[in-house]
Amino acid sequence: MKKSQYRLEKDFLNYIVHKDYYKFLKEELSKYIQHGNTTVFKHSRDVAFNAYKFANAFHNRFHTSFDFESLVNACYMHDMFMYDWHEKSTEHRLHGYTHPKVAALNAERYCYASDKETEMIKTHMWPLTITKIPKSREAWVLSLCDKATTIAEVFSK
Ligand SMILES: [Fe+2]
Ligand SMILES: [Fe+2]
Repeated sequence: MKKSQYRLEKDFLNYIVHKDYYKFLKEELSKYIQHGNTTVFKHSRDVAFNAYKFANAFHNRFHTSFDFESLVNACYMHDMFMYDWHEKSTEHRLHGYTHPKVAALNAERYCYASDKETEMIKTHMWPLTITKIPKSREAWVLSLCDKATTIAEVFSK
């Protein structure tokens, strides 16, 4: 049975807002701009909700199972690089290539990300990071929805 939009949003939020690190994640990621007026927190939330909706629709249509908890949490944490990537710095000169690893380390350190979630974060920039190929179906959904959400955010300005 298909879920109503209200139920979908309520179920989605339940995967993350009751985590004890949610407040930290929200405060920290709201400090940085991803692009335009979009903060990293808003971008991460949009990626998470779009990925959740996509996986739900896929599940309803093809009865494919998804680990929704890992999917939603990894999406929220996938850009936890926690610096302003617009600022010139030798430390993040190659931001596009290096931030997945930085975000995975921060997610592990501050949000107790599981091995699966950490792995998903490390591969979200594929194919830019050509050797870091997504390994789970949740990782593929994160990688796909991150790109689709970024394009939508950039063009909605
Ligand atoms: Fe990213
Ligand atoms: Fe992203």
